[in-house]
Amino acid sequence: MGLYGEQVLPRIINVACGLKGVEPLRRRVCEGLEGDVVEIGFGSGLNVPFYPEAVKRVAAVEPADVGWNLAEKRLRATSVPVERSGLDGQSLAFADNSYDAALSTWTLCTIPDVAAALSEVRRVLKPGGTLHFVEHGLAPDERVRRWQHRLEPVQKRVFGGCHLTRPVVDLLTAAGFTITELDEFYEEGAPKVMGADSLGAAMAP
Ligand SMILES: C[S@@+](CC[C@H](N)C(=O)[O-])C[C@H]1O[C@@H](n2cnc3c(N)ncnc32)[C@H](O)[C@@H]1O
Repeated sequence: MGLYGEQVLPRIINVACGLKGVEPLRRRVCEGLEGDVVEIGFGSGLNVPFYPEAVKRVAAVEPADVGWNLAEKRLRATSVPVERSGLDGQSLAFADNSYDAALSTWTLCTIPDVAAALSEVRRVLKPGGTLHFVEHGLAPDERVRRWQHRLEPVQKRVFGGCHLTRPVVDLLTAAGFTITELDEFYEEGAPKVMGADSLGAAMAP
């Protein structure tokens, strides 16, 4: 990864993903998290203020050093212990069945082998543990989908491999999760091509 990917992009993500308008979605997706939690694509820790008190500790998985450094203030302000515990969601260094819950927010779009990452999350979750997610992906409307396919190559180049057309729910189901909660909507204030969101919870078998 070059200077742009390492230094500039994590700062852009910190600002773009840190907009106030997104906070209600972060609050909703974090609701009900408890116990030992693994967060993949931790970024700059924008979910940290929304971790419920019932969260005992968080294992943060994030490749970008700059993202992790930008999280410092949020980490100082929380009582939840957060440890950077990995760099790649595709290969987690945790034992099977070791986490109560997992969290992924706008990350499944970017991980290169998303099926591998979901299989890893499923492996490390205890049976019945839930992955809380809010992700953008393939839009429900054909007209928007056509634009997503057209724009995806540019999106991937500018946003570090971010895909626009990943079918979030299908990917979760294919990885063996059971969707237990789901809300699908266009994110307010975002272009539809980037804002076709799925927010919910998926249970590991
Ligand atoms: C759009 S950002 C979202 C960040 C954060 N989840 C949030 O909601 O603000 C996508 C994140 O996925 C991270 N990422 C990219 N490849 C990854 C991988 N293989 N494993 C884990 N995280 C990855 C990026 O570094 C980036 O922080």
